[in-house]
Amino acid sequence: MKKFLPISDKIPKILHGADYNPEQWYRYPHVLEEDIRLMKLANCNVMSVGIFSWATLEPKEGVFTFKWLDDVLDTFAKNEIYVFLATPSGARPTWMSQKYPEVLRVSENRVRNLHGARHNHCFTSPVYREKVEIINTKLVERYADHPAVIGWHISNEYSGNCHCHYCQEAFRDWVKQKYTTLEDLNHAWWTTFWSHTITDWSQVESPARHGEMSVHGMNLDWKRFVTDQTVDFFKHEIGPIRKMGSNLPVTTNFMEAFEGLNYWKFKDVLDVVSWDSYPTWHEFDDNSEQAAWVGLIHDMKRSLKNGKPFMLMESTPSSTNWQKVSKLKKPGMHFLSSLQAVAHGSDTVQYFQWRKSRGSSEKLHGAVVDHYGKEDTRVFRDVANLGEALSKLDALVGTTVEPEVALIFDTENRWAIKDSQGPRNVGIHYEETIRRHYRPLWDQGVPVDVIDMECDFSKYKVLIAPMLYMVRPGVGEKIERFVENGGTFITTYWSGIVDENDLCFLGGFPGPLRKTLGIWSEEIDGLHDGQTNGVTMTKGNTLGLEGTYEAIELCDLIHLEGAEALAYYQEDFYANQPALTVNYLGKGKAYYIASRNQEPFHTDFLSQVIKQEGIKRVINTDLPEGVTAQMRSDGENEYVFLSNFGEREQKVSLTDAYYVDLLNAEPVASELTLTQYEVRLLKRKAN
Ligand code: GLA
Ligand code: ZN
Repeated sequence: MKKFLPISDKIPKILHGADYNPEQWYRYPHVLEEDIRLMKLANCNVMSVGIFSWATLEPKEGVFTFKWLDDVLDTFAKNEIYVFLATPSGARPTWMSQKYPEVLRVSENRVRNLHGARHNHCFTSPVYREKVEIINTKLVERYADHPAVIGWHISNEYSGNCHCHYCQEAFRDWVKQKYTTLEDLNHAWWTTFWSHTITDWSQVESPARHGEMSVHGMNLDWKRFVTDQTVDFFKHEIGPIRKMGSNLPVTTNFMEAFEGLNYWKFKDVLDVVSWDSYPTWHEFDDNSEQAAWVGLIHDMKRSLKNGKPFMLMESTPSSTNWQKVSKLKKPGMHFLSSLQAVAHGSDTVQYFQWRKSRGSSEKLHGAVVDHYGKEDTRVFRDVANLGEALSKLDALVGTTVEPEVALIFDTENRWAIKDSQGPRNVGIHYEETIRRHYRPLWDQGVPVDVIDMECDFSKYKVLIAPMLYMVRPGVGEKIERFVENGGTFITTYWSGIVDENDLCFLGGFPGPLRKTLGIWSEEIDGLHDGQTNGVTMTKGNTLGLEGTYEAIELCDLIHLEGAEALAYYQEDFYANQPALTVNYLGKGKAYYIASRNQEPFHTDFLSQVIKQEGIKRVINTDLPEGVTAQMRSDGENEYVFLSNFGEREQKVSLTDAYYVDLLNAEPVASELTLTQYEVRLLKRKAN
């Protein structure tokens, strides 16, 4: 098992801290002093500074004021608090928008925005790029070697797109470079449809609701362009850092399962992945569904850089103020949900925000320090307690997990599925389907990588690719090899439909997966809400499953071409046609789930697959409801996180190894009781 280096060798510990905005408090000097005292009390060792400080750093064009930041960083250095120093491009000074309107974003309706809010600049504007380069260079010059600074926090939550003439030009260049000839462009975008043929490159324009939206290949390319342009801007921001010889790690904070960008395109540009997590805990009586989803996202962030520990860059110590309802975290949930990030591979727990802003739109967003200003609050105590626990977890730094199971959650596929008009235009439910396939693995404490279809599959034993609608070039062959070499592949209805341009595969679905799956999908039936079919398992099927599952929403009508049927439809004109199949190819096998099945299908099906393929669970036991187990390892020791997201007390039997408690070093009994929202950190020898 590999072990990674700490994010910073200046502080090889699990980092704990928050976004910090001292520039909001310059008229309150006592607040800044008090902050240091409180940071130490809260067991915080890292702060993200400068994220939205541009107007304070450069109050007038070309006039820079760094004194305030010098003071903050010097004070931090004296107090052993480290810093992720941000580039301020997430929001720009008013003078800039006023003098150079081209920095303002143009919406899809071709109207330029007014100055305001944040995250709304043009990524292409030469002026914006120049201004960013200047301020970033100044920051690097002044602070790259500052003892408190351990990394660069580039911008903030990149998102959105701009339709200005610069961006249109850049899109045209991008398209030209990709297709070279108009003939190839027109073929890829299938523009003869509705007479949309492009006869001159200048006719290429970004999609818009009051213009072109019906050319799916073009919509897809626009989204790809937006990602590429954002990555290009990101690289532009990093330019001065590297040019001036700073080797400090670079990150930019991602958002959950944000759809606007393909985060996989950032993975080689950043040094460490970070993300901002704001789950709606306690929205429902049972938190497990939410917890499993957050676990999936954590796994995806870890998978982005091949298992390298990531950062939980933001989370709230209590509630947000932008969700529909601002629910407080109940006692225990802060500790549990923070350690959930660590369990899945985060080497940090950080918050938005250290102290509540006194005014403006985030004044009531949760923070470590409330307007009340002192440490005797529930939230502060929760944060301090967690910090104390994190300070005992140095051994975890750089450790990771090497899952045997991977789940494909692919951004381009997601874009294409949702843009496409097909069997169900209300509720195609791609994300939900991904969740349904992850949840049973989470329930059983099976480590999972969440990857995209460009990744290397060869290290996994089981590869799950629900709704693999788009199959990009080479992926079908890669899956075939994976199966031939002994892998188990699982996919579902609505797979193998289109290529990378959203052009349908000719000659029969599921296109390049047809041979591997040994089936031909002739038609797919979209069911209205409330309509169902039955899927009855065959007697003596190889999975050992019995009875009938309920199918909803999508039922694929398939023919066997070498595969074996494990279940048949019960009703409608396709009764007795296969609904679940397995195909044996080389040393492996490939399952096709033809219909969208209700629970307990996924639990039953995946449990059997896990068992039959000998997939390791973190703890070799059936976990009770609401409890999950994750692990990290350095090759010698395994660090097991047993977490109860359920509402009830649960018992877990620990007879498969000798465990000690990581926090107090005491041996753990062979039966462990977990109260509501309790998490236990255990250590055992790796075998
Ligand atoms: C995002 C931003 C932060 C803050 C939080 C509030 O994650 O990055 O600046 O606005 O949301 O939850
Ligand atoms: Zn633009």
